[in-house]
Amino acid sequence: MKKIILDLDTGIDDTLAIAYALGSGEAELIGITGTYGNVTVDQGVRNSLAVTDLFGHPEVRVYRGVDHPLARDTFSVSEGSAFIHGANGIGEVEIPDSNREPETESAVDFIVDAAKTYGKELTYVPTGALTNIATALRKAPEIRNLLGGIVLMGGALTVPGNVNAWTEANISQDPEAADYLFRSGVRSEMIGLDVTMQTLLTRKQTAQWRDLGTPAGAFLADMTDYYIRAYEKTAPGLGGCGLHDPLAVAVALDPTIVATLPINLKVELDGPTRGRTIGDYDRLNDPFKTTSVAVAVNVSRFLDDFMARVTSVAAGK
Ligand code: BDR
Ligand code: CA
Repeated sequence: MKKIILDLDTGIDDTLAIAYALGSGEAELIGITGTYGNVTVDQGVRNSLAVTDLFGHPEVRVYRGVDHPLARDTFSVSEGSAFIHGANGIGEVEIPDSNREPETESAVDFIVDAAKTYGKELTYVPTGALTNIATALRKAPEIRNLLGGIVLMGGALTVPGNVNAWTEANISQDPEAADYLFRSGVRSEMIGLDVTMQTLLTRKQTAQWRDLGTPAGAFLADMTDYYIRAYEKTAPGLGGCGLHDPLAVAVALDPTIVATLPINLKVELDGPTRGRTIGDYDRLNDPFKTTSVAVAVNVSRFLDDFMARVTSVAAGK
């Protein structure tokens, strides 16, 4: 069975990614590592513990990660993130705190240990700032060749960013970490706005969760409706909310759901385009391409799959 680590800034679509993973019988979620972005690391860890309890999976371990970008000492949540995900990250919906605590091992050490233990069986799926994996790769470069895969949600290659014209939110949180990952030699797959803005959810689908009459279903519906309302303000006319993070989990489990472009990527670190994911000119003629960027997605296949898996969790099955 495939092993998965989700590295999350546990906001709304991160929570949907947890539900997707837990609804996927072919994969084992061996741990959640906490990063920052939509929320602080502490709030994200709190959310991950609370939602795994609510989804009936208290066995999922949660690890606290690095709480600030490589190039800065602090992090605070932007107004934009708080608007989209709510101040608590889960659409201002109140759910009970877990009585569990995060593990004592750090997220970075857990990632290194898991890569050594599970090797090619393990896929690491980061959907927030990339600080934890960059730190793990710096600390233990040998895991580069051990890991089965890194499927990250972040970046934008063929479309504009969502923070500004150039940069996507997860890359913008820690451009140095993302650049380190892309140029470290490790193989990765980038699931960016190119495809995640094509996979949209509407109230028609969230109503199906509410109609189940379960606590998990009501929570998922209320939380996601908050996200849909935010999208109606920030992206009027789009027709739903972007299922960014669940799509990365879907690709980790079934790579054929997207079509990819092999490319050596870098992140621009200076000037107005800071945070842009773009081809690395220095490696243009290197025949070995380390990143595959998703540029097309089978939308209906993904959405059907998403609803089946998340609804099974919402139903408490
Ligand atoms: C990404 O940024 C975060 O707000 C979302 O959770 C997602 O991972 C989309 O740009
Ligand atoms: Ca995220």
